[in-house]
Amino acid sequence: VTEPDLAGRHVVVSAGGTREPLDPVRFLGNRSSGKQGYALARTAAARGARVTLIEANTGLPDPAGVDVVRVGTAVQLREAVLKAASDADVVVMAAAVADFRPETYAAGKIKKKDGQEPEPIVLVRNPDILAEISADRPRPEQVVVGFAAETDDVLANGRTKLARKGCDLLVVNEVGERKTFGSEENEAVVLGADGSETPVPYGPKEALAETVWDLVAHRLR
Ligand code: PMT
Repeated sequence: VTEPDLAGRHVVVSAGGTREPLDPVRFLGNRSSGKQGYALARTAAARGARVTLIEANTGLPDPAGVDVVRVGTAVQLREAVLKAASDADVVVMAAAVADFRPETYAAGKIKKKDGQEPEPIVLVRNPDILAEISADRPRPEQVVVGFAAETDDVLANGRTKLARKGCDLLVVNEVGERKTFGSEENEAVVLGADGSETPVPYGPKEALAETVWDLVAHRLR
């Protein structure tokens, strides 16, 4: 039986992967499918929360009873998250956000020219949405949760990232070309700013989502 322990709460969840356009045809992107973020949104709604799901490029259908905002790039995601977070009790950043974007956008398709070397792509930094939300909370009691997608030294990198981002909880999961991205299952350790470590064994993404909400609900009380 699901407890309605998030009733009366507004939670904001980001899902999917940002795409940073190079020209009208091409982008820099990542392998996020949005499934973990959608599992968070569905389970929060089932626990009674009002849910705003901000999705980037997932192609997934809207979950029932959830407000969905669609964005493409990291800059658009930042705007949507900051707007929704202004009255939120909880913000969960499950989206895979591009750290960099191409400095310039070509209005027409970039063409290859015979006998010429390709032009290098110059990148500039994107805003760090999670760090910004954690530092400037629109409501002081707001609970902020980040995810960390790591390929090696998962826990050590996770601890460093938790400190750098300044969030309350950081869900550390290992990723690879065929690991976690796009799959129905996940395995993680949820690190708390208070030093806590909650391992979540390999299982459906819903199960990890439920553990995240258990930890969040405990902090909201
Ligand atoms: O979508 P699925 O296929 O189900 O896969 C799930 C997932 C692997 C995408 C998800 O579980 C996950 O780990 N999401 C976070 C991916 C990520 O961007 O990790 P990161 O270590 O690069 O970033 C750390 C945190 O900072 C994340 O909460 C991210 O949303 C946030 N961030 C990152 C960069 C940036 N410019 N702004 C941010 O807010």
